[in-house]
Amino acid sequence: MGNALTGSALDEVLARAQAAPFSLSRDELAALLRLRPGPEREAFHAAARAVRDRVSGPNVYLRGLLEIGTRCRKDCLYCGLRRSNSHTVRYEMAPPEIVRLAVRVYELRLGSVVLQSGEVQSAKHTAVVEEMVRRIRSLTSPDFAIVLSLGEQSEETYARWRAAGADRYLLRIETSSAAFYRTLHPATHRWEVRKNCLSTLKRLGYQLGTGVMMGLPGQTAEMLADDIIFYRRIHADMIGMGPFLPHDETPIRESPLTEAERLELGVNMVAATRLYLHTCNIAATTALQALSPQGREQALLAGANVLMPNFTDDAHRRAYQLYPGKPIVDEVSGEEPLSALEASIRSIGMSVAWGLPGTPPHYLADRDPAE
Ligand code: 5AD
Ligand code: SF4
Repeated sequence: MGNALTGSALDEVLARAQAAPFSLSRDELAALLRLRPGPEREAFHAAARAVRDRVSGPNVYLRGLLEIGTRCRKDCLYCGLRRSNSHTVRYEMAPPEIVRLAVRVYELRLGSVVLQSGEVQSAKHTAVVEEMVRRIRSLTSPDFAIVLSLGEQSEETYARWRAAGADRYLLRIETSSAAFYRTLHPATHRWEVRKNCLSTLKRLGYQLGTGVMMGLPGQTAEMLADDIIFYRRIHADMIGMGPFLPHDETPIRESPLTEAERLELGVNMVAATRLYLHTCNIAATTALQALSPQGREQALLAGANVLMPNFTDDAHRRAYQLYPGKPIVDEVSGEEPLSALEASIRSIGMSVAWGLPGTPPHYLADRDPAE
C-alpha cells in the first residue's frame, strides 16, 4: 500500500477495523498513523471512538497516580530520572504517607491507584512494597484496583506483590524492536529481560499494561505499527503511550518531530491502537497534556478511556521529572479540581465512571498465558 489512505480505500480499512479486532495489516496501521489533520484523520478518530463506545461506553475510568520515589538504578538515555542525572532531586515517599494518599484516592471514588517510581531492586524494597500493598488492600474494597509501576523485578518479587493484593502492573516495553531499544539504552539494559518481565506478569495473573513513546530519533511509522501488533502478541490488557519529550539533562536531547507533530502522532497512535485491539484500556497520558492543554481530551476523542490524575503531593511532584514541562500547577489533587476534570470530560460527551475499577474487557475475556 502507498502512503496516502483516502476515499473509498480509507472507508474500507476503517469499516474492516471496526468490524473485528486485529484486522489491519502493518502497512495499513502505518498509513493511518501518518494521517495529518483533515477529514480523513477525523474519520479515523471517529471510527476508533465508535469502537471504544461499543466496548466500554463513553466512560472515563480514573486512576489516581502516586509518584512514590525518584531513585532509579537504570540509565535510559531519554529519561530525566536516569541514574547519571545528578541534577535530579531524589526522594522516597514514606510508606504511611503513600497508604494515606492511596486511601484518599479510594475515598474520592477513583477506581484504582497507581504506585509508580524509578526502578529499585532490593530485598528491603520488595518487603516494603509488599507491606504497603497489603495495607492498602486491607483498607479498601476488593474491587478497588491496586496498580504497580515499579520497573523490572524478579518473578518472586512480582509474585509476592500479587499475593499481597496488587491487581495490575504497568511496564512499558518502550519499543517492540530489540535493535531500536539498544539505541535508547545503555548495553546493560536488555530488551529481552523486559519482554520476559511482561510474560511473567501475565502468567502471574496481573492485568498487564505496557506501551511505548512516540517521536524518538530513528523511529518510523512502521515501527510504531509493529508496536501495536506487539501489544496483541503479549496479550496486553492496558496501554499507556506518550510523545517523547526531550529532557536537557539526558543524552537524547532532541526529537526529529515538532511538538505539534508529536501531539498528532500521539493521538493517532491511540486511535490506531483502539482500532486494532478493541477491548483494551487505553490511557490519555499526561505527556500528551504536556504538549497541549487539550492533549488528553484529543486522546479521549480518539478512543482512549482512562485518565490518570496525579495525587502526588506538591513537594514531591516537582522532583518527579521524567521529562520537562510536566504539568504541575494545573493538576488535580483534591475534590475541587476533580470536579473541573469531570466538567472537561463532560464537555466532550463522556462521563466519569466513579467508583468503578474499569477492568479491561480484554482481561475478562482472555486469560491465556502470553507466549
Ligand atoms: N519523554 C516522554 N516520556 C518519557 N518517559 C521517560 N522519559 C521520557 C521522556 N523524556 C516515559 C517512559 C517510561 C515512563 C514511566 O515515562 O516511557 O516508561
Ligand atoms: Fe528509570 Fe524508568 Fe526513567 Fe528508565 S524510564 S531511567 S527505568 S525512571
